[in-house]
Amino acid sequence: MSRLERLRQALDGAGLAALALVPGPNLRYLTGLAMHPSERLTLAVLPLAETPVLLLPALEVPRARERLALDMELLPWSDEQGPDVALRRLRERLRLAGECLGAEEQAMRLLEYHALQRAFPICHVVPADGLLATLRMHKDEEEIAAMRRAAAILEQGLQETLQRLRPGMTEREAARTWQWAVAEAGGEAFGDAPIVVAGPRGASPHNVPSDRPIERGELVTLDWAAHVGGYYADITRTVALGEIGPEQRRIYDLVLRANEAGRQAVRPGIPAQEVDRAARRVIAGAGYGPYFLHRTGHGLGLEVHEPPYIVEGNDLPLAVGMTFTVEPGIYIEGLGGVRIEDDILVTPEGGESLTTMGRELIVL
Ligand code: CO
Ligand code: CO
Repeated sequence: MSRLERLRQALDGAGLAALALVPGPNLRYLTGLAMHPSERLTLAVLPLAETPVLLLPALEVPRARERLALDMELLPWSDEQGPDVALRRLRERLRLAGECLGAEEQAMRLLEYHALQRAFPICHVVPADGLLATLRMHKDEEEIAAMRRAAAILEQGLQETLQRLRPGMTEREAARTWQWAVAEAGGEAFGDAPIVVAGPRGASPHNVPSDRPIERGELVTLDWAAHVGGYYADITRTVALGEIGPEQRRIYDLVLRANEAGRQAVRPGIPAQEVDRAARRVIAGAGYGPYFLHRTGHGLGLEVHEPPYIVEGNDLPLAVGMTFTVEPGIYIEGLGGVRIEDDILVTPEGGESLTTMGRELIVL
């Protein structure tokens, strides 16, 4: 079944007459068109039965024609004219009155919301984020292949970075090395820079790289996500620069065992929170529970963070084709931190790691 057919089935089931989309990952998923939100109104409306419509700035038409994977009627508007005429055509074209439209609560701005209300004034607009998440959570072969390529490129870049890592190099220099290696290997545009944090700075899970030189005897955490064809891989490894102390070694071994326990817990049918529990049990059992500061993982795909979230309280059953991270960590003020992150695909047999780099402590 095509993505549009699956969407229509879901809309029908939810009692929605159409779905409105703004530029972002959901639009990319359903139409193939990768766009960022801008000040110029862009709005897709995918109705239950009729041809989907895309209202867009005239200057985006060539890109849309090149990239659209879906048969859509284009309603362009020019800078001189403004979007009102196109909005009127949208209204005449779809004639939705008194019905329920789904939209993205997390992505739609007032700009698009008001435009939607102008086009369909007596329709109800309700959140469709859950419905879209359900569609996107189940990855197909092509999506998984892109994620595998992204993981391979990201790991190759990380290996190159580790080969160059030495005392005196700053966190920022190490981060740039990784970025450069991934770009060279064919990784595509990426948002945030890599996290590279060493020594005591590693005690904060989302610290950004600084100009502080990395010293001998420190743990270094390197964490980054990059994508191929829009699909992300996300990996973290923590390495030691020279010999480390017994406490650092102890937390490394615990996080490694937690990562293994989390990965091994994965199988279709179990609630997502069971994976979090499996990883957390190892760390809490050794008395380090309060130092595991975050959930065990997050879904991965067209976004670096998307459902399913691997967290206590999420009883969503895992299913074949879901992809998410398992990334336990321990963070101790003054001492530093350890995190080991892998990308897991749910298979009929259990969980397969798309990230394949070794997890035993590397001492550089
Ligand atoms: Co990460
Ligand atoms: Co992550």
